[in-house]
Parts: sequence; C-alpha cells; structure tokens
Amino acid sequence: MIRATVLATSMTLAAFSGAAQAQSAAGANEYAWACASCHGLAAHGDGPLAEYMSVEVPDLTGIAARNNGVFPMLQVIHIIDGRTGVRGHGSMMPVWGDRFEASAASDAGDYGTEVMVRGRILALATYLEAIQQ
Ligand code: HEC
Repeated sequence: MIRATVLATSMTLAAFSGAAQAQSAAGANEYAWACASCHGLAAHGDGPLAEYMSVEVPDLTGIAARNNGVFPMLQVIHIIDGRTGVRGHGSMMPVWGDRFEASAASDAGDYGTEVMVRGRILALATYLEAIQQ
C-alpha cells in the first residue's frame, strides 16, 4: 500500500516535471518569436528594436528584483495579454500581431482559440518567471 502510494507520487512528479519542461520550451520559443526583438534574446532589454523605442525597454530578468523579490505572475500575464489595460506596452501593443489575442479566429472556434491563447500567455509568463535573476 505504501509502496503503491510512493510509486503513484513519483509518477505524478515525473509527469508534472515533464509538463513543466514542455511548457518552458514552448515559452522560450514564444519569447524568441514575439519578444526578443525588443527585450533581447537573453531578455536584458537590448533587442535590435530597443534603440527605436521612445521609452526604455526593460530588462525582463529583473522583474522580480524590481518587485521586492516577488515575481508578479498575474500582472505579467495581464501585460502580455494586453486586454486588461495593465500598463506595460501602452499603445505599442500588440507588436506581435494577433498571436496572443483570442480574436485571432482560427478553426479552433471561440473557446478553443481562447484556450490556445491562454496557453501561450501562460507558457511565456512561466518562462519569464524561470529566467528571473
Ligand atoms: C516593440 C518592442 C517590444 C516588444 C516586441 C515586446 N515588448 Fe515588452 N516592453 C516594451 C517596452 C518599451 C516596455 C516598457 C513600457 C513602459 O514602460 O510603459 C515593455 C514592458 C514589458 C513588461 C513590463 C516589465 C516591467 O518590469 O514593468 C513585460 C512583462 C513585457 N514587456 C513583456 C513582454 C513580452 C512577454 C513580450 C513578447 C510577447 C514583449 N514584452 C514584447 C517593448 C516591447
């Protein structure tokens, strides 16, 4: 009985870390595709477009440090989402087109599209959390 519990627990952990890895790989890809042009590949705010911005492009590895050591997951999700009005990208959003907008109608249907969009945003936010310094 105890052995079965241990086995089940370790299987759950293995499945969880597998999912976490898949998500962070997805987040890294999303990041490179949609964010690195401004924020830089290593997220230090030094992408090729940064010099053309009228405001300074923030170093995204320092979000937690600027927030008393706590990564503000929900706020970051809202900034990436862009629909909630949380400042971060102002009127320049969305530079990445409709990739993170549910209205990016696809054959997934309304609900399916929203799920895909949220998945991408969550993968990105999780990736950003993982690269905090
Ligand atoms: C066109 C350039 C550009 C692109 C592309 C871009 N950003 Fe930004 N980002 C900025 C600028 C400029 C700011 C600062 C805006 C301000 O101060 O109002 C910012 C701010 C942020 C912030 C707030 C950081 C903080 O510490 O307050 C987050 C989080 C963020 N960006 C994430 C992303 C993510 C994730 C992507 C990709 C989906 C992305 N950005 C793509 C230019 C960009």
